Amino acid sequence: MDKLNFINEELIKLKETGLLINIRTIESPQGSWITVDGKEVLNLCSNNYLGFANDPKLKSASQKAIENYGVGPAAVRTIAGTTTLHKELEHKLAAFKGVESTLSFQSGFCANLAVIPAIVGEGDVVFSDELNHASIIDGCRLSKAKTIRYEHCNIKDLKAKISAEKDVKRRLIITDGIFSMEGDIAPLPEIVNVAEKYDAIIMVDDAHGEGVLGRGGRGIVDHFNLHGKVDIEVGTMSKAFGVVGGYIAGSKRITDYLAQKGRPFLFSSAATSADVSACITAVETLTASDILVKKLWENTEFFQEKMRHIGFNLGNTKTPITPVMIGDAKIAKEFSQKLFESGIFAQSIGYPTVPMGKARLRVMLSATHSKEDLIFAIENFEKIGRSLGLL
Ligand SMILES: Cc1ncc(COP(=O)(O)O)c(C=O)c1O
Repeated sequence: MDKLNFINEELIKLKETGLLINIRTIESPQGSWITVDGKEVLNLCSNNYLGFANDPKLKSASQKAIENYGVGPAAVRTIAGTTTLHKELEHKLAAFKGVESTLSFQSGFCANLAVIPAIVGEGDVVFSDELNHASIIDGCRLSKAKTIRYEHCNIKDLKAKISAEKDVKRRLIITDGIFSMEGDIAPLPEIVNVAEKYDAIIMVDDAHGEGVLGRGGRGIVDHFNLHGKVDIEVGTMSKAFGVVGGYIAGSKRITDYLAQKGRPFLFSSAATSADVSACITAVETLTASDILVKKLWENTEFFQEKMRHIGFNLGNTKTPITPVMIGDAKIAKEFSQKLFESGIFAQSIGYPTVPMGKARLRVMLSATHSKEDLIFAIENFEKIGRSLGLL
């Protein structure tokens, strides 16, 4: 008997329903045009919002860090010590975000897995937006706290659910700042009001807000001017900052506590000197100038206005994340394949990343795109959309 036969069956099922993910191979640095599977294509997939992923200043910082510190961290920070680079990044990030302290992690995913189980456990309740990122869902599962999902961005539903939970030790409300598959923005001021009324801890995952929202890309708390009102911010260095890594931002009390209790911090090696050094340069560059953030928003407005005018449904996006709603996963896949043949890399996204029946093409805009790039994309979207009978 083949004990692992269920794997074949599952893979066949994914293929038949159009949900098998085709991971393409990139053969060039990140940028507006990249080489994918041997073909030069316009890149509408990456989270490289500001172009930092291949920025010469970041690359040179990484090279210098390797010379000075070598390539590997050699152990976890609590056991073998931390480098001055990690500390410098944490100080500079705190200043940029306008918080007392930050603590860096290996990724945003790790940051969520660290913070949620450290803050809540059995007897506590988490109120989590139903479209929160998978790393938040997994952090909640690990915590063993009761998790109640409230309807997406629905404050009435959040209030109803939080007021119905009596005899709770601790309440924690968690929301994505910008929802990664929708591009809409959490109603953070209203969530803060609910948190204050019910004495709940409030946590926002700002992965897609950094480098995008707020003054010079300082994120969602800055965007809504809620400094001091949000207990915990989770961030990533893998999107607008262009590198890899994650962090928690908040009070020194919280970061001191997580350095003792955050399991991915305690039991997994730190980010490398090359990564951390590039992150420092990204934070410095963003602190010094908002030119790239402005360009990102100009591109976003231009592209989305034209796409809506043509007749595409872009959902409720208010940010550079641009979902082109299709519905059927197979059609979304076919659309993506035809775009690729015309020189455009825009992946289709289906279940389980988005709910069943809500497949879409997810276009990620970047400051690296030129007007000509965007016009090229819009013309091809229109042509293929018409050929598939979607317009
Ligand atoms: C909202 C949100 N949180 C966390 C993450 C994970 O970040 P990282 O890639 O740094 O692990 C992502 C990335 O997709 C995200 O969109």
